[in-house]
Amino acid sequence: MAMRSSSGLTASLARLALTPAVSSSSAAAIASTSTLSRRVAPNSRPSARSYATTLQPPSQYSIGHLSPAQPAKKAKRLGRGDSSGRGGTSTRGHKGQKARTGNGKPTPGFEGGQTPIMRRFPKRGFVNSFAHETVPLNLSRLQTWIDSGRLDPSAPITVRELYLSRCIHRLGDGGVKLLGDGAEVLSQPLKLVVSRASTTAIKAVEKAGGSITCKYYTPLTLRALVKPEKWTGRGRLLPRESMPINRRDLLYYSDIRNRGYLAKMHVLGNGEGLTSPSSSAPPSADAVAEANDIVAEEEARVAQQAQAGEIKREDAAAAV
Ligand SMILES: *[C@@H]1O[C@H](CO)[C@@H](O)[C@H](O)[C@H]1NC(C)=O
Repeated sequence: MAMRSSSGLTASLARLALTPAVSSSSAAAIASTSTLSRRVAPNSRPSARSYATTLQPPSQYSIGHLSPAQPAKKAKRLGRGDSSGRGGTSTRGHKGQKARTGNGKPTPGFEGGQTPIMRRFPKRGFVNSFAHETVPLNLSRLQTWIDSGRLDPSAPITVRELYLSRCIHRLGDGGVKLLGDGAEVLSQPLKLVVSRASTTAIKAVEKAGGSITCKYYTPLTLRALVKPEKWTGRGRLLPRESMPINRRDLLYYSDIRNRGYLAKMHVLGNGEGLTSPSSSAPPSADAVAEANDIVAEEEARVAQQAQAGEIKREDAAAAV
């Protein structure tokens, strides 16, 4: 390959910033190749640009290596009059699905014109958009988690411990409801703080010598309980403890039979239910004894009322 040493070509090569190997030594060529290949990250799929730089540069450049610059691609200007060639139907052709606005697909649920299923059948049921879903948890599963060492029975167990040990996999809208299945396998005293608990679960936990507090949570306070670092890590204050706002929740958490935290707070006076159990000191023995007395009294009163109700009903039946 004969390289014409015309001054015009040399000038154009210089403008292209190419290094003709003719004028450089072979050592310099190797050095420049190695700097080129070092720029490409190892094991990465080469992009078009990096692939171009890893190619061995030709030992000699000639006029044949020059190519015209790629022309810029111009956007189609649609609907700008007949003379543009793309006026009228704007390249969409006449009528039909693809001529309509949108992505050329009918709306979801469209069945080609026949009455779609959504209009063919009447609505059924109803979705309660105010429902607060709690995650159910049986005592048997809790015991399995303790037996396998995934939960520490000596420390208070809250929704946080349950979630981080994967005993539950979601937080729901309102946290965990403890259910009584496996009441007979519960074998150690536990200090539990959950969102709700069934009567059998409460009985079983207390029979084993433990305590249970039902506390109100919103999705926000649940997240703050499980991932406080999302706040503290960014130098923000943790969200305040939430209080129940609807009547049903207020009644539930104020009832000592549900071991509601509002009821306990009233009885124990030290806000056992309000602060997070890992940070608050356990209530004194006296306070617990007093609380248990009040619970027993309350239960006795309820039982008496129920009995009185039955007697009244019997009287009424007798009178008839
Ligand atoms: C709890 O136990 C009951 C009775 O065995 C069962 O029907 C229910 O599905 C269990 N719930 C969960 C969440 O495992």
